[in-house]
Amino acid sequence: MTKPNNFLQNLMKPFKLNSSKEGPEEDDLEKIAEQEQKQFSFETLLSATKDFHPTHKLGEGGFGPVYKGKLDDGRAIAVKKLSPSSNQGKKEFMNEAKLLARVQHRNIVNLLGYCTHGVEKLLVYEYVANESLDKLLFKSDKRGQLDWKKRYNIIIGIARGLLYLHQDSHSCIIHRDIKASNILLDDKWVPKIADFGMARLFPEDQTHVNTRVAGTNGYMAPEYVMHGHLSVKADVFSFGVLVLELISGQRNSTFSQQHVEAQSLLDWAYKHHKKDRSLEIMDPELASSAVTEEVKTFIHIGLLCTQGDPQSRPHMPRIVVLLSRKPSNLEEPGRPGVPGSRYRRSRRPGGMSSTAGTFGTAGTFGESDSRTFNSSSSTNTATASTSALRETPP
Ligand SMILES: Nc1ncnc2c1ncn2[C@@H]1O[C@H](COP(=O)(O)OP(=O)(O)O)[C@@H](O)[C@H]1O
Ligand SMILES: [Mg+2]
Repeated sequence: MTKPNNFLQNLMKPFKLNSSKEGPEEDDLEKIAEQEQKQFSFETLLSATKDFHPTHKLGEGGFGPVYKGKLDDGRAIAVKKLSPSSNQGKKEFMNEAKLLARVQHRNIVNLLGYCTHGVEKLLVYEYVANESLDKLLFKSDKRGQLDWKKRYNIIIGIARGLLYLHQDSHSCIIHRDIKASNILLDDKWVPKIADFGMARLFPEDQTHVNTRVAGTNGYMAPEYVMHGHLSVKADVFSFGVLVLELISGQRNSTFSQQHVEAQSLLDWAYKHHKKDRSLEIMDPELASSAVTEEVKTFIHIGLLCTQGDPQSRPHMPRIVVLLSRKPSNLEEPGRPGVPGSRYRRSRRPGGMSSTAGTFGTAGTFGESDSRTFNSSSSTNTATASTSALRETPP
């Protein structure tokens, strides 16, 4: 499906980076939807979802439920419904609508349109047949469906989607909430990055911005959690966590409860890598399908992405190259970062940097990675303490 140019231009007009005005944005949504005929009537969505029947519910996110539906023309859709009470939700909802309308890529979920009905606000997406990755990867009876070939392609697809967001889309977009429940898998197991509620447009001439901390426990880069220091490297970090989760079949955030010898999945993978025994972290379900050299290389790349020092983490273009080729000379990863850890950068001659990190506790911000944190601060600068973080449902 192509998105007409004037549709994009209309979206560009009202959107301003760091815009704090909320009022006009809501009208914009209706206008844009009307102009571009992307508006769905509430009745259509009611009928498609059987009056938002509980059995049609696909998931419950931070600001409202998502329902499965079927349009009269046979198309399957997913409808995200904003809880009318949530103010923060309204912002994120608009954010998602605007950013998603601007992007189109094989590895990004397709937004079909919108609906406003009184206080109700709804986003309509193409239904993605195998739903979200967390529903398979973290379920012991379903994980076996994901053999190595699938996981390999999922990792490469997510990397391509992120490369597009960071570099190839109209402007640099940082997703900020890359995690298993925000990756959808279609009928051919092609991954689609979803949930752009927290995504940010990023000024091209800056290396980082300071922002409110919002993200999910277990996936957030330490410099972002601690200092609100946001750059594309925060997404790279989350991507690295996801790579290690896909290979091990384990959630980073709940990992420490099951293993005494390591404080986090990252720590565990790093220690095994250093002993040249990284294959031991592999999900036993992969035993029959794994190509061991590929698995080892992907663990290595996952560790490069999750280094404590953001400057040592590779950018997405390099990651995509590393994943698709057989890299021979990969640099050794520095220590992984975890929330609560500090990193110290020692400058090497030639401008290369290395990391001397200290491991913090993986559970610093709670035990479940299904939680999204969002700072309640109204300023643009993040505070690092847990008390400044407001917890919202997944
Ligand atoms: N297009 C879709 N197709 C299939 N399942 C979806 C789709 N969109 C969302 N879901 C399901 O609903 C969940 C929540 O949706 P998401 O877009 O992540 O919103 P939230 O902000 O509520 O987390 C997802 O984790 C996924 O399981
Ligand atoms: Mg989500």
